[in-house]
Amino acid sequence: MADQQKKFYITTPIYYPNAEPHLGHVYTTLCADTVARYHRLAGEDTFFLTGTDEHGIKMVKTAAAQNIEPQQLVDRVVKVFEDVWKEFEVSNDDFIRTSSDRHKKAVTEIVKKLVANDDIYLGSYEGWYDEGQEEFVTETEAKANEFKSSVTGKPLTRYQEPTYFFRLKKYVPRVQQYIEQNPQFIQPDARRNEVLSKLKQGVEDLSVSRATLKWGIPLPQDPGHVLYVWIDALSNYITALGYASGDDSRFKKYWPADVHLIGKEILWFHTVYWPAILFSLGLPLPKQVFAHGWWTSGGRKMGKSLGNFIDLDRLRAVAVQHSQDALRFYLLRAAPFGSDLDWTDADFAKSYNELANVVGNCLNRTIKMIGRYRDGLIPAIGETADLDAHLVSQTESLGRSLASAYEKLELQQCAILPIELARATNGYIDATAPFSLAKDPGKSKRLDTVLNRAAQAIKNTLVALLPVLPDKAAAGLEQLGVKIDGRTIDDLLRDELPAGHKIGEGQPLFPKIDPK
Ligand code: MSP
Repeated sequence: MADQQKKFYITTPIYYPNAEPHLGHVYTTLCADTVARYHRLAGEDTFFLTGTDEHGIKMVKTAAAQNIEPQQLVDRVVKVFEDVWKEFEVSNDDFIRTSSDRHKKAVTEIVKKLVANDDIYLGSYEGWYDEGQEEFVTETEAKANEFKSSVTGKPLTRYQEPTYFFRLKKYVPRVQQYIEQNPQFIQPDARRNEVLSKLKQGVEDLSVSRATLKWGIPLPQDPGHVLYVWIDALSNYITALGYASGDDSRFKKYWPADVHLIGKEILWFHTVYWPAILFSLGLPLPKQVFAHGWWTSGGRKMGKSLGNFIDLDRLRAVAVQHSQDALRFYLLRAAPFGSDLDWTDADFAKSYNELANVVGNCLNRTIKMIGRYRDGLIPAIGETADLDAHLVSQTESLGRSLASAYEKLELQQCAILPIELARATNGYIDATAPFSLAKDPGKSKRLDTVLNRAAQAIKNTLVALLPVLPDKAAAGLEQLGVKIDGRTIDDLLRDELPAGHKIGEGQPLFPKIDPK
């Protein structure tokens, strides 16, 4: 009997729809998209979730400033998010909105379970509140940051009100033990240490309701309060799968998540609050929470007033001029995944030129030579030489190194490894000099081998680039006459272009940038 198909479940944070998406949101989403595409191509039953986090005071305030209701605001901006993900060819399988009935119903059930476990109680709270982050901060923390948000720098607000609490403290020892015993749970390692040391400083129970707010999910045991807000938001990862609904088949199939991909500023919520909630619900924890770094622009924090903000229009302009795939490549290429990143036009140009000069050029010259010297037909291997061995082994091992890079979410490597093969192929072509071999009829068998090896290598480069450059890699493969036909990445890498295979016309994949 065939093995049961492996499943893979990956999520992005659900974004606040109080403003249009920008570079940060596009980054997380495209990174998750690349990983999802890889796992799909590997033949796994893949589920990729994104969505929007629509409750909370931020939405209320933004709506009020525009003289509209929160629902009108989120309906408008959520549409922008959905359209943008379509425009950027994001392959998400679902889009969860926290203002949707399916989410609200399931969250109500979740809260009932937490209440039934005696994990929610009524108390009263007075403290400093960070509205941007939607969390209370301790007196010490507030003082240390001069009563400003450590993240946004905006002044903290003083709140006093009756509120329901979630018994976070009760679960802290279990959470801590889990993190210690499962080194893969929080990645990269440095982030794991941050969480562990913050845990050791002590944790208070979590305020989870507001009596002063209407925009949110009413608490089932006390509808005068709305849920506020991390239980609501974090639950999206299971409500989207149908948890606590009539049909939990997707939940049974995909939970626990394989990866929650998030930005570093929301790591604490995902690795302390979320596990505690899941423990209370008696559910398994996600296998991994991976926190990536933050983008700055031109060496400074992105800011609308600073003129360095990489907004949607800017991203669109880049995609129109250089292709969406070039943007995808740059985002992955810019820094090791997990580190902070800095957007500069010069770096973008460098990364684009790498695609053009290494991958585009390798494909183009290989197709041209096979067209000119062999009528566009892949020749059979003829005479071999020592020089071939290195390229052959690099061509064959790419699949393994790529699998390991995706396994560890080394996304920069996922982008670079295929490029390295194209670079080696260019070196091989330079060293074997097919143009001179072609002049000597006695070297015809040697030329056969060189052309064959170069073609197999660029074919594997393009296959390995499919998750990173979905359009361009597919276009390049089409030029080589390769049909993807639902084959897995392993099949595509392993199946050589057979002798006699007809390749197509060469077209530059990455046209040169006009120097202006
Ligand atoms: N709604 C919460 C998340 C709830 S998840 C259960 C939230 N939303 S957000 O709209 O502020 O999006 C935050 C996410 O956007 C970050 O985690 C990160 O993925 C991305 N980014 C926003 N700005 C960013 C940068 N400047 N750089 C990189 N990514 C950042 O937080």
